[in-house]
Amino acid sequence: MIIIIIAGFHPMSSTFTPSTSVPLQATTDAAEATVAPSAPAGGGQVHRPRRLRRTGTLRRMVRETVLTAADLIYPLFVMEGEGQKEAVPSMPNCFRYSLDLLLEEAKAVWELGIGAIALFPLISHHLKDNAGTESYNPEGLIPRAVRALKQALPDLLVITDVALDPYSSEGHDGIVQNGQILNDETAAVLAKQALVQAEAGADFVAPSDMMDGRVREIRQALDAEGWINVGILAYSAKYASAYYGPFRDALDSAPKFGDKKTYQMDAANAREAIKEVELDIKEGADIVMVKPALAYLDVICRIKQHTNLPVAAYNVSGEYAMVKAAAQQGWIDEKAVMLETLTSMKRAGADLILTYFAKDAALALRP
Ligand code: PBG
Repeated sequence: MIIIIIAGFHPMSSTFTPSTSVPLQATTDAAEATVAPSAPAGGGQVHRPRRLRRTGTLRRMVRETVLTAADLIYPLFVMEGEGQKEAVPSMPNCFRYSLDLLLEEAKAVWELGIGAIALFPLISHHLKDNAGTESYNPEGLIPRAVRALKQALPDLLVITDVALDPYSSEGHDGIVQNGQILNDETAAVLAKQALVQAEAGADFVAPSDMMDGRVREIRQALDAEGWINVGILAYSAKYASAYYGPFRDALDSAPKFGDKKTYQMDAANAREAIKEVELDIKEGADIVMVKPALAYLDVICRIKQHTNLPVAAYNVSGEYAMVKAAAQQGWIDEKAVMLETLTSMKRAGADLILTYFAKDAALALRP
């Protein structure tokens, strides 16, 4: 092993040695020579990556990842009523909006440069049943919200969630029988739900349930009715995660028994995420998503390398709540942590990010 001293400091002495006087040993190893300069070209032997960090202008020029408002999708909670806006305690600054106020909020979101919202409904208990029947009621809360939104803000992209949990008396994403979640029977209901949402004007439907074959079922149902331009944003790699807690508070949709581990993925698996993504692509997904985001950046990265489709990441409720809680204690700088976190998701490979921080981030990113 030939050691080349590339620094101006002699490693054995604390005094500065001019680089010209450092004896440079020749190397016969070509590979090594490409790593370490063999001659002091231009007199500089030290590699100085810091040169590119010297000023803000320069850092901006060489920045590899740029977060913009156009990358963000804002999840919004909608409920029945008028003139109502209810706080979600575990998600500071997030609210459930009655339809009229939802429209105002959507307008504010659009004006901030955010192009899309994802809608989630709070369904009253008397409308919930095991089969999630209310999920495909054409006069239900979501279809009414979509119609009103598309009328008021035609260019704002509206994404609807396809899953039974907000409508399920069991709080599960599928129909329950003897403690089991039925797959194919559920997928058939999801297709009906997606169809009603498409008819209402949804631009994208987003199955978040993790039943097998549901993307195919939904695509076929949409195409059969002529909704060829309604896209599918598939929650392809959705993990059984403890980070969803605050969201379930917001929609009062926590499972009444057991957990979601027989359909959502095991947190320990990454290869399986690729399998799920491949299946969803074959079945007709237009965008694939990883959820949660922050604890799954490696999964986002792998999926990005695997597909040419846009990749979305869901910066979920628990990730949001942790940042908010620490910031409220004065323990972290909220704005800086928010931007760093969202940037990390983009850097990992996310083209789009669903985040409760969308509005705050869009504001912070304003030139
Ligand atoms: C349910 C659904 C969940 C979320 C989005 N859709 C919760 C769950 O799977 O239990 C979580 C979103 C969040 O935590 O922000 N289909």
